[in-house]
Amino acid sequence: MLVVKQNQVRQAHELSGFFRFKADHHGLSKQGRWETGLEGEVLELAVPGSWNEQRRDLHDFFGEGWYERSVTVPNAWQGQRIWLRVGSTAGNARVWLDGHLLGQHRGPHLPFEFELTPFVRSGEVQRLTIAVDNTLVHYDLPPGQARSDEDRAAGQCNAKPDVAYDFFPSGGIHRPVWLYTTGAAKIESVKVATDFEGRVGTLHVRAGLCGEAAAELQVIVDGQTYTFPVTDSSAQGECSIESVRLWSPEDPYLYEVELHLLSAEGERLDSYTQSVGVRTIRVDGHALLLNDEPIFLRGVGKHEDFPVIGKGWMPSCVVRDFDLMRWMGMNSFRTTHYPYAEEMLDYADRQGMLVIAETPFVGLKEHLYTDDMLVRAEETIEEMIVRDCNHPSVILWSMANEPNVRSEAGRKFFKGMAAQARRLDATRPIMFVAHQWPDNNLGAEFYDMIGVNKYYGWYSDPGDIDGSLHKLVDNLEAFNKEFDCPVMLAEFGADAVAGVHSDPPAMFTEEFQAEIIKKQYNAVKDLPWLVGTHVWAFADFKTQQSYTRVHGNRKGLFTRDRHPKMAAHAVRKLWTESD
Ligand code: GCU
Repeated sequence: MLVVKQNQVRQAHELSGFFRFKADHHGLSKQGRWETGLEGEVLELAVPGSWNEQRRDLHDFFGEGWYERSVTVPNAWQGQRIWLRVGSTAGNARVWLDGHLLGQHRGPHLPFEFELTPFVRSGEVQRLTIAVDNTLVHYDLPPGQARSDEDRAAGQCNAKPDVAYDFFPSGGIHRPVWLYTTGAAKIESVKVATDFEGRVGTLHVRAGLCGEAAAELQVIVDGQTYTFPVTDSSAQGECSIESVRLWSPEDPYLYEVELHLLSAEGERLDSYTQSVGVRTIRVDGHALLLNDEPIFLRGVGKHEDFPVIGKGWMPSCVVRDFDLMRWMGMNSFRTTHYPYAEEMLDYADRQGMLVIAETPFVGLKEHLYTDDMLVRAEETIEEMIVRDCNHPSVILWSMANEPNVRSEAGRKFFKGMAAQARRLDATRPIMFVAHQWPDNNLGAEFYDMIGVNKYYGWYSDPGDIDGSLHKLVDNLEAFNKEFDCPVMLAEFGADAVAGVHSDPPAMFTEEFQAEIIKKQYNAVKDLPWLVGTHVWAFADFKTQQSYTRVHGNRKGLFTRDRHPKMAAHAVRKLWTESD
């Protein structure tokens, strides 16, 4: 699904701002009443943003939240097809215009759109309603609740909220909402795969089309015009670029690919411009090659998380985070543990930041490895890859974080996910992010690369940094030997509460965090098959309350509001001075 762009054919209007809001604390709205208008006490909330961060009385609300606002489609848009696009919501969403159900979307973190045209009364005030269901359930993909209802009823619960993963399950409309227009024929999707040989770059362009039959697709790139015939709702072909300028972190050069859908008479029915970077990425033996050169990933795992905004899209936070990552000498990060805003990936393309793009599959356990859930997983993988496949910054797909996979059903599930990713994108390697050796890795053999999350000196051998260094090396080596592929240390680190100090370094102090990162990095950095290390985490983040957390997860190199701890300076020294 394409990002909204305004151009000579398409009009666009963003609906971010204040929405009326009602939390369904008692399951009343399941009767389907509120699409005809919110009643009773109605609040106002900002979009994008998380409701839990905006109001104290919504902090612990994990149910269905109803958003409503008025929209007026301008008269000037008459005769056009009109679409509503939502960048992402937490959980499942249902959308109505003046009480007419436009559609529903399952799952968080990915965009969806619906056509409004039949229900639009141009120039009149109409009511847009979006219900976002952030109910935490044990049996869904991704799972919300850590335990089944039966286990919870039996009293098994030791955290609040009792989620299946380590971050706060914020609710809300988290990314921008747009109205936009197209003509009767529409360029629905664009996929550009790039390659090069010598100095000649190749673009394999494919556009998915819908609506009134168009005759051909005109593609203009690097001053050359190509024409591809339209067959079966798509058009595809190859373009080449002489003396190609490759995309790389050092020179993130982007080509603009202009696409025009033409009628038989040559009239422009739709237009779209897609930025692309020409580069290759592949695993070769035990190395990861970018443009045929070995690359070592230095970076972090992070979260879309900020005080007050929660998981809401806020471009100034993204600029700040990238500035800080660059300051520390980082070249990459992983979108732990879900797909991040597509606008952020556009920025990464322009900044030359390498991204490991992760699915929202975190907290997976055996009860989820069914055929139905695999279909759900395949749908989500498709939504993510279709959305993100044109970003040169995205170099790897991470299919899940720390799954528990001990059964044949689990192996089949992970085989199925790998096959789906490869079917949709043959140009990027896929990664399995493991956390245990030797258990829980069935199915990892179907992946090109293994990421390992390891917390020696913290969760195991707490406090003993020096004594556990060899265990870290042995552990990584075991993965490399077993799977015969490149390995990255995808998470390592320790909690530090900013302002807490000790000598000698002790757990939860800034000194301990800086020390563990330095020593573990130095212990592993020269392993010949290790292709990267990512510190966990970029910044402190909001999570469930438990006795292992000091008001949030404090493994950040920065505080939640982005002030550096000693470890940020230590990493900067490691990655800007010694390499
Ligand atoms: C994990 C996990 C993170 C988590 C971290 C921690 O391995 O992938 O999501 O926050 O450990 O416990 O701090």
